[in-house]
Amino acid sequence: MNILYNHDLTKFTGFKTPVTVKKFVLIEHEDDFDILPSMQLEKPLIIGGGTNYLFVNPEINEAISYTGTSITLIEDADKYSTVRVEAGKNWHEFIMEMLEKGLYGLENLVLIPGNVGAAPVQNIGAYGREVSETIIAVHCLNIHSGERILLTHEECMFQYRHSIFKHHEWKHVMITHVDFRLNKFESPMAKYPDVEEYLRDHEIESPNSKDIAHAIIQIRNKKLPNPAFIGNAGSFFKNPIIPYSVYNNLKQIYLDMPSYPLNEHEVKLPAGWLIDKAGWKDYRHNGAGVHDRQALVLINANDAIGLDIYELSTMIQTSVQELYGIILEPEVNIIR
Ligand code: EPU
Repeated sequence: MNILYNHDLTKFTGFKTPVTVKKFVLIEHEDDFDILPSMQLEKPLIIGGGTNYLFVNPEINEAISYTGTSITLIEDADKYSTVRVEAGKNWHEFIMEMLEKGLYGLENLVLIPGNVGAAPVQNIGAYGREVSETIIAVHCLNIHSGERILLTHEECMFQYRHSIFKHHEWKHVMITHVDFRLNKFESPMAKYPDVEEYLRDHEIESPNSKDIAHAIIQIRNKKLPNPAFIGNAGSFFKNPIIPYSVYNNLKQIYLDMPSYPLNEHEVKLPAGWLIDKAGWKDYRHNGAGVHDRQALVLINANDAIGLDIYELSTMIQTSVQELYGIILEPEVNIIR
């Protein structure tokens, strides 16, 4: 275990806005679990990669992070392998290492910033896949009692950008390991407009999993700002899910509005389109901005503080609600 005092977290976060933590506990190994309850941490913020947080308040009291990065093979069947991965492993590196080993299923999720431990929390997803499709169990630790908890796939209650870990009662539970079942056979998933367009342009007719990973790396690099250079946390809002009755009214006004049917009652709308159409693309508010190629992504355009980005996000929410009657829910975790 390592404890850092008055530690500057700025570089560690997605938005790169100034933030300091008074006491930062880094759990490096499972042996450290037993010491945790005696530390009597009050309400520490559990940080995975730190990439999906917006720190509006530039000072937080306590934070805790699990830093282990090992990958262990726990089951080797004919058609799949199950690997147990420590929460601190970098997400993109993990996918690329699995692809090299001939283990497939995560290739659509390349380049999503953050660590393995954060992936189940918001059930990360992109280009037609969600991480929950590969997760068979999540191992956690109650940081107050030291109790270890094992959740099966069903118990995680995965939904679109949501899981049990988002519930308030789970705020004191830290994910330490995630078990993934990855296929030994390839089943590349290319049914997403941007991916189809890329493969067509590059004359790739029967893509394999590595082709998909490569295509998505190129698409993301072109469309989304790299958090290493421009502070951001990917999509700031979730794509709203609305009933067909509301959708039908909007569609009469906005004939070109894209949509994704979910079931017979509900439809998902791209928040990026709604925000773009409302005129926010490339807008600036103090140091904060709306990305010029994807209006769903808010950026640290010029030495922003957390409050700049937060204020911009609320201005966008108000505008979208006034224009379409739709409430946008943040996907990013806002710490105030
Ligand atoms: N669109 C616009 N203007 C914009 C942005 C989007 O018109 O400024 C339109 C696009 O043309 C397209 C539609 O909106 O018709 C959807 O856009 P896109 O394909 O870029 O996907 P998205 O729904 O905006 C979601 C995820 C992303 C993920 C992409 C690709 C959410 C909240 N976001 O974005 O996830 O990379 O699909 O699968 O579900 C993230 O969560 O951080 C993230 C980047």
